[in-house]
Amino acid sequence: MKKMSKSNIVLIGFMGSGKSTIGKEIAKRLQYSFIDSDEVVENKIRMSISDYFKRYGEENFRLLEEEIISHIALTTKTVIATGGGVVKNPNNISNLKHNGTIFYLKGSPEYIYERLKYDTSRPLLNTKDKLATIRSLLRERSPLYENASDIIISIDNKSIDEIVVSILDYERGKVI
Ligand code: S3P
Repeated sequence: MKKMSKSNIVLIGFMGSGKSTIGKEIAKRLQYSFIDSDEVVENKIRMSISDYFKRYGEENFRLLEEEIISHIALTTKTVIATGGGVVKNPNNISNLKHNGTIFYLKGSPEYIYERLKYDTSRPLLNTKDKLATIRSLLRERSPLYENASDIIISIDNKSIDEIVVSILDYERGKVI
């Protein structure tokens, strides 16, 4: 039987790196479906992720996230935007890689901070010193993002359109 080529586009990266906005735009241009894993989680739990963290903690969120990713990973011709912590669980990555090319939207801590400084929807960043938290989480997660990804796209000071075009160029010609 002929092996199907990987058809999903999976976006990973830190909170605030634009995975959902960019993912929706790519899906529109390729006429693919779009799925945001956080949105699927929120629909299932019928509350915000922030409330869920407060009530049930991060560990339970990660279990839900794993279950949801395992289903989403079975789709085809879909752009998948993931939560920033998806790389913490290697099962998520092996599931997503099965049918997807993984793009890491890589931003510097300072750039991400600028984008998230007034945001209150990310429970892990509701700390006294948001920039320091971003720096420390990114230091911990950078190797995970880099190892999980097939392609790394730098996002600092780039427009949505520039990032979308880089990803589409890769998809069309498999080069950047
Ligand atoms: C998280 C990122 C969030 C969400 C949850 C945990 C993380 O998603 O899944 O708050 O651990 O980085 P976004 O990356 O879409 O903000």
